[in-house]
Amino acid sequence: MTKIRLGVNLDHVATLRQVRGGTTSYPDLLFYVHESTRAGADQITLHLREDRRHIQDSDIQNVIKYAAIPVNMEMAATEEMTKLALKYKPQFVCLVPEKRQELTTEGGLDVVKKKKQISKLIEKLSKKGIKVSTFIGPDKKQVKASQEVGAFACEFHTGHWVQFKDRKKDKEWLKLIESALYCHDLNLNVHAGHGLDYESTRDIKALPFLEEVNIGHFLVCEGLKAGLYESVRNMVQILK
Ligand code: PXP
Repeated sequence: MTKIRLGVNLDHVATLRQVRGGTTSYPDLLFYVHESTRAGADQITLHLREDRRHIQDSDIQNVIKYAAIPVNMEMAATEEMTKLALKYKPQFVCLVPEKRQELTTEGGLDVVKKKKQISKLIEKLSKKGIKVSTFIGPDKKQVKASQEVGAFACEFHTGHWVQFKDRKKDKEWLKLIESALYCHDLNLNVHAGHGLDYESTRDIKALPFLEEVNIGHFLVCEGLKAGLYESVRNMVQILK
């Protein structure tokens, strides 16, 4: 049976810890890495933001060292972050846009506009065996640019599709389908993420050639009820 890979984003476990400035030893991020793994997650996804509002450099280092499954490091497309990725060597990097004031990653990366800069960063990361994806909106121009800069996959931002209603939602879905098909034509893997819950994950499974989803906020929130093991396990069942 083929299954869509699940990356569990644990940023918000670190958010809870950082609410007290990181002075508490709880919640223990590595415990939740272990729980996600035990429940069948395929990778751990961590976003090292430039303002370090949740995940810290030491979290990246420790999770890469102790996780039994691959780590996907989300990061801004900057020299500083690339240096850290080359130091810690996660198996995967996902390049995301970043604005300091935003609550979460609000839009997709403009690969077209930053082609030269992104291309250089991906070259450095690829030389060390790190596979790089781009987090983009469903836009064929961004897919093409992602291929040209050497990405192995595009992760499509599903946040708008999740929130839109009626005709707007249908229009966004068509864009997602068109972009996913184009991605496949260009030999790029199709990933998706942002704002997904059990219901929208059931729907996103219909996206052509979808291989991986990265989900965080919902799983951690749902985990408050029954434990993260339970929420991740339910999601793994949905993705089968
Ligand atoms: N994928 C990317 C690239 C993201 O930036 C995020 C948010 O950190 C996610 C997936 C997960 O989104 P959510 O927490 O809404 O599930």
